[in-house]
Amino acid sequence: MKNSFKAIAPVALAFAVALTSGNAFAAGDAAKGEKAFKRCSACHSLEEGKNKVGPSLHNIIGRTAGTVDGYKYSDVFAEAAEKGLVWEPDQLVAYLEDPKKYLAAFVGKDKVRSKMANKFKKLELRQDIVAYLESLQ
Ligand code: HEC
Repeated sequence: MKNSFKAIAPVALAFAVALTSGNAFAAGDAAKGEKAFKRCSACHSLEEGKNKVGPSLHNIIGRTAGTVDGYKYSDVFAEAAEKGLVWEPDQLVAYLEDPKKYLAAFVGKDKVRSKMANKFKKLELRQDIVAYLESLQ
């Protein structure tokens, strides 16, 4: 009982903060995010035009999904773009939790194919990384 309360309390607190702050995802720490970006950099460069396994994340904030030049995306990206997916901070924070699930929900399917299989479950980590990406623009 004690232990389960401990596990739930931070989640409940984060939720309460999210509800009261208006912008649930504005809370990231860019300095921490810069360090945490090493979880992305094996596959993503921040340099314009430099695609690795994944597309360059240069100026990714505010960009329509699936539009980095010269990168061959999974088909679901064209569909998501057509349906209006733009990588604002909130969208990115949500996407990173479970990319395939996020894209499937966005295009209204049960399941989709996508090449980014990594999931980042920790909200704080995602917020920090997105804050870092925002700080570069
Ligand atoms: C193991 C490799 C890998 C890692 C690690 C990874 N990604 Fe990706 N990412 C990809 C691939 C591959 C795609 C393209 C997916 C597709 O076409 O299905 C992608 C797509 C994306 C997109 C969509 C880009 C666009 O142009 O629409 C974003 C945003 C993104 N990743 C952010 C991140 C962030 C931030 C991290 C770190 C927290 C990360 N990724 C970690 C491989 C990775």
